[in-house]
Amino acid sequence: MKNILVTGGAGYIGSHTVVELQKAGYNVIVIDNFINSNELVFQRIEKITGIKVQYYKIDLLDKTNLNSIFEKYEIDCVIHFAGLKAVGESVKEPWRYYNNNITGTLNLIEIMNNHKIKNLIFSSSATVYGNPQIVPITEDFPTGACTNPYGWTKFMIEQILKDIQKSDNDWNIVILRYFNPIGAHSSGLIGENPNGIPNNLMPYITQVAIGKRPELSVYGNDYNTHDGTGVRDYIHVVDLALGHVKALNKIEQKAGLCIYNLGTGKGYSVLDVVKNFEIANGIKIPYSIKPRRLGDIPTCYSCVDKAKVELGWEAQFGIRKMCEDSWNFQKNNPNGYQ
Ligand code: NAD
Ligand code: UD1
Repeated sequence: MKNILVTGGAGYIGSHTVVELQKAGYNVIVIDNFINSNELVFQRIEKITGIKVQYYKIDLLDKTNLNSIFEKYEIDCVIHFAGLKAVGESVKEPWRYYNNNITGTLNLIEIMNNHKIKNLIFSSSATVYGNPQIVPITEDFPTGACTNPYGWTKFMIEQILKDIQKSDNDWNIVILRYFNPIGAHSSGLIGENPNGIPNNLMPYITQVAIGKRPELSVYGNDYNTHDGTGVRDYIHVVDLALGHVKALNKIEQKAGLCIYNLGTGKGYSVLDVVKNFEIANGIKIPYSIKPRRLGDIPTCYSCVDKAKVELGWEAQFGIRKMCEDSWNFQKNNPNGYQ
């Protein structure tokens, strides 16, 4: 396996994965419509790896252009990151989310199928587990009961992929359920670059640290957790990227349909993250306690055994390093990739 097509490869997780794929010797081709990213990221990737990224501005909703990539290259496997991911926005614009994420994926599968390319790695999310009854979460926990259209798109795409693989065993599909990716490449050249006011915890913290926002709002301190604030399984984005490189081995083994959690197996509360950020970077993060955020769950962390045994993958970086690298990217790029 040599030529890997990465959809959404200009985005946060995609860009880090492109770096690790190039380092592992794969020939990477990226398509992205840049709706939530910037093509300057490819200059940064080239600085890190010394390899130019072959990229094309293509929307998954544009079947003609999408097809042209499969005409031009002999693709061996597709890693499919492209999608819209803002939870709040998905509640306000459900049609756009369902159309972009689901139609985009159906277009991709149709064209792959036409070209007899039946190897796919898909970005799913721990959001498909909804509010788990117990933790840690194993891959066989019930899914569904999502709390927003974004989550439903992940759940529905998983179902579509399972049905397709069941109907045609030539398909090899790895579904990766990410927990909470944070951190950045240690060079500080690539990282998370959110548009507008961040929804997620770490980009909000780094924007407080750099003085863009006065304080962090901590959403609820009355959950049944060790300090009352929400507990999550934060994972370094480089570890996550390496998980995709390992998943390619599974594709090569022609393993059919496989599902893995990608997390660290450790839960940290909002206040744990704030404390670790402060210690790692020597910066105070002012915060105030606010009411719970609608749709939030108290606790979510993964069981990592399946990925460890079957993929030979395990997260290496701890929470301090995640906090250091998130801040390193933010302080070196106060205005993102501009
Ligand atoms: P991101 O927004 O940074 O990257 C997604 C990329 O896809 C962007 O570059 C965007 O421009 C592109 N894109 C969107 N729609 C497209 C379309 N129709 N055609 C072509 N390109 C399109 O997001 P990310 O954080 O890197 O997430 C990558 C994937 O992982 C997404 O599918 C996301 O839902 C999933 N995921 C992310 C998280 C997270 O916390 N970041 C957690 C779980 C799952
Ligand atoms: C959110 C999404 C989830 C998505 C994931 C990754 C919701 C309800 N869930 O998960 O679908 O897959 O992002 O993109 O939006 N927090 C604060 N203050 C903030 C921001 C967050 O206290 O300003 C808290 C939250 O209440 C939560 C924790 O920090 O307890 C993590 O929040 P976040 O980073 O948004 O991730 P999730 O809620 O786990």
